[in-house]
Amino acid sequence: MTRKPKVAVVYHSGYGHTKVQAEAVLAGAQSVTGVDAVLIEAAEAADNIDQFADTDAIIFGSPTYMGTVSAQFKAFMDASSGAWMNLSWKDKIAGGFTNSASQVGDKTGTLQTLSVFAAQHGMIWVGLDLPPGNNASNGSDDNMNRMGASLGAMAQSLADAGPDVAPPSADQRTAHHYGARIANAALRWAA
Ligand SMILES: Cc1cc2nc3c(=O)[nH]c(=O)nc-3n(C[C@H](O)[C@H](O)[C@H](O)COP(=O)(O)O)c2cc1C
Repeated sequence: MTRKPKVAVVYHSGYGHTKVQAEAVLAGAQSVTGVDAVLIEAAEAADNIDQFADTDAIIFGSPTYMGTVSAQFKAFMDASSGAWMNLSWKDKIAGGFTNSASQVGDKTGTLQTLSVFAAQHGMIWVGLDLPPGNNASNGSDDNMNRMGASLGAMAQSLADAGPDVAPPSADQRTAHHYGARIANAALRWAA
């Protein structure tokens, strides 16, 4: 193909922590040669759903608020219903990530919401290919995938830590790895 596959990272972040994770996902996608990757805030994405027409992969990112996506991210989801009606996102690659304060924090609920959303659009969901970290006596909090996720990338930001220090390096490296995985999937799928 002559056109470079395009990856979009669509995120919401109320207080900056999920933005740090989104930027790490973006950097991972940009590390893959032959792929263009962009970061789009959810409100801006909702305002122009048509901008995704030539996007090969969309990675959805939201903080976990009350066990699911934030209201702001849900607004973007609802704004995409026109694309759903026309199946215009069908066969695009999809992935998702989330960040919350607690170690569990019901983050799985958020990733499930995002994966069902992708399935509604007829998208192809790509999970995280990392083994769980920090789940054995020789593990550490600095292990990638220390949250032990499979559906997508998770991060934890302590409630009293600012986005200058949270989420920590292990979660940012996990996010970076996931962004590269999705970009590689887009590259293969678009070939
Ligand atoms: C309205 C609201 C609901 C929240 N619900 C959860 C929750 O269900 N689980 C959790 O672990 N943290 C919860 N938190 C904490 C956030 O997930 C956490 O502070 C996160 O880092 C915020 O990300 P952001 O800075 O990108 O907005 C909640 C925070 C807010 C403001």
